[in-house]
Amino acid sequence: MSSTTKSAVMARFHVEWARAQFPALQQTLNGQPAVFFDAPGGTQVPQRVIDAMVQYLSTSNANTHGAFLTSERTDRIYSEAHAAMADFFNCDPDEVVFGANMTTLTFALSRSIGRDLKSGDELLVTQLDHDANVSPWVALEERGAKVRTADIKPADCTLDMFDLQAKVRRNTRVVAVGYAANAVGTINDVAEVVRLAHGVGALAFVDAVHFAPHGLIDVRALDCDFLACSAYKFFGPHVGVLYGKREHLQRLRPYKLRACTEQLPDRWESGTQNHEGMAGTIAAVEYLADLGRHHAPEARTRREALVAAHDIIAQYERELAEKLITGLLEIPGLTFYGIKDPAKFDQRTPTVAVRLDGHTPRELAEHLGQRGIFTWDGNYYAVDLVERLGVQKTGGMLRIGLAHYNTAEEVKRLLGELRTLATK
Ligand SMILES: Cc1ncc(COP(=O)(O)O)c(C=O)c1O
Repeated sequence: MSSTTKSAVMARFHVEWARAQFPALQQTLNGQPAVFFDAPGGTQVPQRVIDAMVQYLSTSNANTHGAFLTSERTDRIYSEAHAAMADFFNCDPDEVVFGANMTTLTFALSRSIGRDLKSGDELLVTQLDHDANVSPWVALEERGAKVRTADIKPADCTLDMFDLQAKVRRNTRVVAVGYAANAVGTINDVAEVVRLAHGVGALAFVDAVHFAPHGLIDVRALDCDFLACSAYKFFGPHVGVLYGKREHLQRLRPYKLRACTEQLPDRWESGTQNHEGMAGTIAAVEYLADLGRHHAPEARTRREALVAAHDIIAQYERELAEKLITGLLEIPGLTFYGIKDPAKFDQRTPTVAVRLDGHTPRELAEHLGQRGIFTWDGNYYAVDLVERLGVQKTGGMLRIGLAHYNTAEEVKRLLGELRTLATK
């Protein structure tokens, strides 16, 4: 197949349909179209998300539960946002908790779980995770708990499941695992981790922040106890969302105001929420559902449409990642971190991390940034992983994070820039 012939998947996914919805993608820098390869740090948003937030602030801006029009509209947005995220997670709306961001929600949850911990209890985290799924659990050492860390296999940055299994013990109370690694893209066998946790009666907490824009979340199928993500990573605004099994959300004792009711999810949503963020989150879920309907018009419910969306997104992103990784591996002096075997690409997102001899990751990101290609450098808060890989002191890695709105043409442009740098 010639490089200009589109594969069946590339042709079947209507990337132009998707791109047309994101106004930010129209931007240029120094006469070149901007390339957004910064998705793991935050995705761009479709016009409808912007419109929904403007609409909320223009017509519905109020606090909740008042006896007047704008407050009633706000109550409606609040319910619709919980319903939208229930479809997104495959749970019930009262099992959805909104908050400032994943980090804040996870600290609130860990503090609450900590109230019932005893000295000698253990918590298990992993070396692959973002610090937002580590520090909130480490904070519980103040209460006498001990945190253990499951190791990785540095050769491909996958979790060492033997090590993890050995560290899930009788006194383990929480196993906190990432669904996908924001630094290197590894997708973990979360269902298996949940099974191991439940085998010793521990709670299973899943950080799905990096996974959410790339794959379908089904908390019922995973059987996890909690799962957190952030709308700004899946084409929405800056709000965090937590799923909790109803029995746990009812049983645990959140730190809350007396005035806040004991109803779910209110008891976990103390303080005024980001209502315009909720409006934007509904629009982000609707965008994904529309993408699903566009490619699979037979989808009937919003959940079915989300399933269809993630099916086509995963296929498209996999092909894009294959082009990117194949091209990167041909560049002399380039070190690649993470899964690079195409047979295992269903175990990774299209987020890749590299280093190039003779250039710090910062220099690479600056060089690309000046040419309109936006990538991240550093550790992106995956501090344990970057330390374990031995690159923390030398600037971490360059992270190239693709989303479904990226194109093969953009990948080609990036590879061209890196190839030129490699020969300098
Ligand atoms: C995997 C992962 N977990 C957690 C977080 C923290 O999310 P938030 O910014 O919503 O607190 C991030 C943010 O980059 C992330 O990538």
